[in-house]
Amino acid sequence: MTEEKVQLYRGLREVYIDRTTSSFIDGDIGKLLYRGYNIDDLAVKSTFEETAYLVMYGELPTREQLAAFDSELKASRGLPGEILDVIKLTRNSHPMDVLRTAISALSAYDADTEDNSTEATLRKGVRLTAQAPTIVAAHARIRDGNDPVDPDPSVNHATNFLQMLNGEAPDPQDAALIDKDFVLHAEHGINASAFGARVAASTIADLHCAITTGVAVLKGPSHGGAAEEVMKMAQEIGSEENAEKYVRDRLDGGGRIMGFGHRVYKAIDPRSVHLQEDAKALGERKGEPGWFGILQNVIEVMEPYRRRGIYQNVDFFSGTIYYLLGIPDDLFISIFAMGRVPGWTAQVVEQFENNILLRPRLQYTGEMDRTYVPIEERS
Ligand code: ACO
Repeated sequence: MTEEKVQLYRGLREVYIDRTTSSFIDGDIGKLLYRGYNIDDLAVKSTFEETAYLVMYGELPTREQLAAFDSELKASRGLPGEILDVIKLTRNSHPMDVLRTAISALSAYDADTEDNSTEATLRKGVRLTAQAPTIVAAHARIRDGNDPVDPDPSVNHATNFLQMLNGEAPDPQDAALIDKDFVLHAEHGINASAFGARVAASTIADLHCAITTGVAVLKGPSHGGAAEEVMKMAQEIGSEENAEKYVRDRLDGGGRIMGFGHRVYKAIDPRSVHLQEDAKALGERKGEPGWFGILQNVIEVMEPYRRRGIYQNVDFFSGTIYYLLGIPDDLFISIFAMGRVPGWTAQVVEQFENNILLRPRLQYTGEMDRTYVPIEERS
């Protein structure tokens, strides 16, 4: 047995792997900027379409640029019939698996698939941003035995998604919440899914490969899967009075409270602040304030964990919002993914523009130079 003397960075904690101008996170004070703009401003003043443009192209659009971008998004919402067949074939899988498979399959129908130029990558990013909600909504309807609803070019991205999902025009206040949720999820530096996307891009694989990877990595409960888990937890808790005992039992049993903790934020995740206000208002508007009350009590019981930098993250309240909007639990991560396509695209463009193969090392700790024994002589 031999051990090389190496500096290990398990989990790449605090390791900077490159430079970016896409987003800035100060985890100590809970600050997040997209292309230099504070998400506190974008969340209340921008729209998903405008923010997606900002994230992908680096600047806030002029009126004309936004109109052209919006038209491009709207024109790209449809899916080839073959992709609907793929969705039908995989209808019993988790929505994230269907999204991942359909995005992968879309590479067969995109004229720019093999073109890794910045222009083509951005064109594909726009198309995938537009197509992702259509995939998710079509799958949700097909698995329930309903026909998919065609995209509606007369409404915005968020409204169109809810309309394709539910088969009727949504309450504008509900659509505005989804729009804001997409804004808050649009980009977040080199998190695990963006890292996965960049690893794919670093081999000079194309954007469909990279985003398929991003979706795959996002699925896990340590990343995007937490929103679904938080709502399950709220349902298990069942009442505000039960929150304290539930949290203590879970922590005493060595479990984690989903929607808490973050690799980078050691203060409140600024996205969760916006979603907290929205979850409260939505609960009151829908006549179901109890879920917010339960989660509020969880936060109170988790108060001592703040000393260790463990606060609620973006996933803590997003699940409640989706739930109150009547969206099935297993679609929660896909909504995160829909919002994140512009961020993954921006990361891939950056990777291509100054590419270096992402290929770290592993320290070998196994046995050395063993003698090969033929199978008939092995005991
Ligand atoms: N509940 C209880 N304790 C926690 C939690 C939590 N949610 N998160 C971290 N801790 C504790 C760990 O038990 C550990 O304690 P120890 O040092 O006594 O062993 C310590 O905090 C550090 O935890 P790590 O797992 O080493 O921290 P890391 O930075 O690797 O983890 C992660 C970050 C995976 C997000 C973690 O906080 C977690 O599992 N949270 C729950 C899942 C979740 O909400 N994920 C969504 C993240 S946001 C996003 O991806 C969009």
